Amino acid sequence: MIENKRNIPSILTCLDGTEVGDWETWLKKRRSELLNLFRQEEYGFLPDMSEVEIKIRVADSRRSEEIMQGRAIRNTVEVEAIRNGIHFSFTFAAFIPADAKGPVPAFVTVCNRGIKDSDPARHFLSSFYPAETIISRGYACAAFRTQEVSPDYDEGFTTGFSRLFPEYVEGRSDDAWGAITAWAWAASRIMDYFEMEPLIDEKRVALVGHSRGGKTALWGTAQDERFAMAVSSCAGNSGDALSRGAKGEKIGDIVKRFPYWFCKNYQKYVDKEETLPFDQHMLLGLIAPRLVYTSAKTFDSWADPEGQFESCIQASPVYELFGKKGIGQKKRPLPEQPVHEGRIGHHYKTGNHDMDEYDWNCYMDFADLHMKAK
Ligand code: GCU
Repeated sequence: MIENKRNIPSILTCLDGTEVGDWETWLKKRRSELLNLFRQEEYGFLPDMSEVEIKIRVADSRRSEEIMQGRAIRNTVEVEAIRNGIHFSFTFAAFIPADAKGPVPAFVTVCNRGIKDSDPARHFLSSFYPAETIISRGYACAAFRTQEVSPDYDEGFTTGFSRLFPEYVEGRSDDAWGAITAWAWAASRIMDYFEMEPLIDEKRVALVGHSRGGKTALWGTAQDERFAMAVSSCAGNSGDALSRGAKGEKIGDIVKRFPYWFCKNYQKYVDKEETLPFDQHMLLGLIAPRLVYTSAKTFDSWADPEGQFESCIQASPVYELFGKKGIGQKKRPLPEQPVHEGRIGHHYKTGNHDMDEYDWNCYMDFADLHMKAK
């Protein structure tokens, strides 16, 4: 038995009291129940997409000395969505190692920072998205900007993706999508493109994000089973940190500043975390038996590193249903001592709220171990 200091609900007990004892029941019953609860109560349901036409096209493909000294092919891809004559589009760049002999594994990054942190031209280099290092380690990579998909401020939310649904702008139903769901939708469109790209192995793709991007990476991977792995850096509250007994940010803090990230129902849980029918460890559990990696920083108490690691422990029983190991150890690791053995990876690094080259190298070490090896 795992200790349950924060009194979180049991991941293996269904709403009707059924105890899940095997992976079939998990997949058929509990997983779908939880997915639905997260949609209804926290992140919101996507609108009906049946009338939305989606076009994905490679606008430009080039290999030149200016782009990573010719070490990568850069494909500029445009995603266009059309509904009732309204168009919405965003673009992203994908880099593929120029020496790729066959399909390579890849990382998709949710970039919640400025253009300089994911510069497709590579005039600006940032350790937030070290594309050169990723390429040199034999992975392809792509990054999209949250600002292009669903602008990250209150009024901005109704532009971008949500523009396609003007009736929604009038009145938002309590369980309708928030920005995190819209960003996760965009990540899945990159996966659509990967499925068409012969040099990328769509079966070995990780979705990565930092902070609000980390929440998105977990939610996107939970929903879209094509992703083989989720990576969240400092995701914290409403990401990988438990809501019950939160040591840093609370639901009340997050919905006050960023109400549009979530559905309206989430407001019900302000100061009432104990009434949530789930907790965030279940978001990790939804990804099982696929790979999850979370990372935390020593000076990032707002993201509650203790609650982040506790989630990894509490999600592990789901992996065990599949005969796999979740987190490799029950004891919180010391800084700079990554835990890589199980299907849930974790590290705790000295530093502030950020994602950097050290983090990326750990993510890739873990991916080398579990995703790259055939
Ligand atoms: C705020 C917010 C966090 C979030 C962070 C970020 O601090 O409260 O929940 O993770 O922004 O996205 O950087």
